[in-house]
Amino acid sequence: MSELKTVMHPLAQSKLTLLRDKNTNKKEFRELVSELTALLFYEATRDMSLKEVSVETPFSSCTCNTLNSDIALVPILRGGLGMVEGIVELAPNAKIGHIGLYRDPNTLRPVEYYCKLPKADDSIEIFVLEPMAATGGTASAAITFLKERGFKKIKYICLICTPEAVAKIRSEHPDADIYTAAVDRKINEEGYIIPGLGDAGDRMFGTR
Ligand code: URA
Repeated sequence: MSELKTVMHPLAQSKLTLLRDKNTNKKEFRELVSELTALLFYEATRDMSLKEVSVETPFSSCTCNTLNSDIALVPILRGGLGMVEGIVELAPNAKIGHIGLYRDPNTLRPVEYYCKLPKADDSIEIFVLEPMAATGGTASAAITFLKERGFKKIKYICLICTPEAVAKIRSEHPDADIYTAAVDRKINEEGYIIPGLGDAGDRMFGTR
């Protein structure tokens, strides 16, 4: 069974509160998405393996640790794009792939329209980024898609999800851990998370 990690760190929770507030403006919203994502990523990378390297300090040589595998971020277009910047501050060498999947407004099922990914190898660690997981359909489809292309170590990071999304991702991908700041109550008739934070893409990009 994949792990669901709800990050309750006080900094993460206070940023989430500001994100939920409808009076938070676009600039603040974008900054908060970056900052909260960085905190979630920090938790999601906690168990990454290290390898030893030798380093010369100004005084002597010493054996130190460095990451043992590459990191690739895969934002799901378009909301996931806003989550990249905060992570790149922490992991500047991360590769970045893109997946475009939209929710069909009638069926709410994911439809793929774009994909450009780094080369798959066994050691690369993939972090799928999507601000809101309502049904979990898009997340699960993106993870399936990545597995079909040979990626093995996949984690999913979202700001808010629902119990339904967690159940779907867990049942379809028991090997993909989920990192989030909140599991909200429900989805409304239009597919939005309640209480949620509204349409994350629209609030980030000012499209409504
Ligand atoms: N996508 C969003 O941006 N918000 C929701 O509440 C659900 C899906």
